Amino acid sequence: MTRLSVNINKIATLRNARGGQIPDVVKAALDIERFGADGITVHPRPDQRHIRFDDVYKLRSVITTEFNVEGYPDDHFLDMVCEIRPHQVTLVPDAPNALTSSAGWDVLKHRQLLKDIADRLHDHQIRVSIFIDPVEEQIRAALHTGTDRIELYTEAYARHFSSNPESAITPYIKAAQVAAEIGLGLNAGHDLSLQNLRFFSQKIPWLHEVSIGHALIADALYYGLDNTVRMYKSELRQA
Ligand code: PXP
Repeated sequence: MTRLSVNINKIATLRNARGGQIPDVVKAALDIERFGADGITVHPRPDQRHIRFDDVYKLRSVITTEFNVEGYPDDHFLDMVCEIRPHQVTLVPDAPNALTSSAGWDVLKHRQLLKDIADRLHDHQIRVSIFIDPVEEQIRAALHTGTDRIELYTEAYARHFSSNPESAITPYIKAAQVAAEIGLGLNAGHDLSLQNLRFFSQKIPWLHEVSIGHALIADALYYGLDNTVRMYKSELRQA
């Protein structure tokens, strides 16, 4: 079954709005694990406007499920992940001031950079995933970086899902088939929600993991965090 990694950045955004410790990000992560999530994802950005670097250190020592740290691989980021060794690092190409991730890597252009980084992360026994658009040449190029997995950027799927689910999913099925054929593991994320998640994982049952933040935390305002995590897990189970 596809695993659910919950991105807790939005919980940190809420905390930072008041400058105190409410809500408690570490407690929320532990509760999310207790409610059935298979992993926790964080995305520290250089301006630390949501998850801060010190949160990442604290979380590393208490999380018992899988810890996925995503971000742009500048020196600070790489030094930190090599020190704390999360289970997985997802490399994202976004600029420091990006509102959120808005494109996958141009792997053809940055192949050597990504290969050097993947080698370094592998030296620290960290699984590597590269955030990527559902484009065949990019996926084939990713294989030559030595990455273990790719994470498909699902924003376009989510945007087109309500008007035409079949055409929204088509490039993702093709991309997922290419990844399987060349032996790359497969993750997906961005704008996945209770509305579009089941269809995505039904169509791509070999998907290893989804990482979901914005919609899940927004749903938790209505359903509570416990119910919401269970609802997302249930969508994956029914796929
Ligand atoms: N994957 C990556 C690489 C991301 O940058 C994000 C957003 O931080 C997500 C997944 C989760 O996206 P969303 O918050 O829309 O669920």
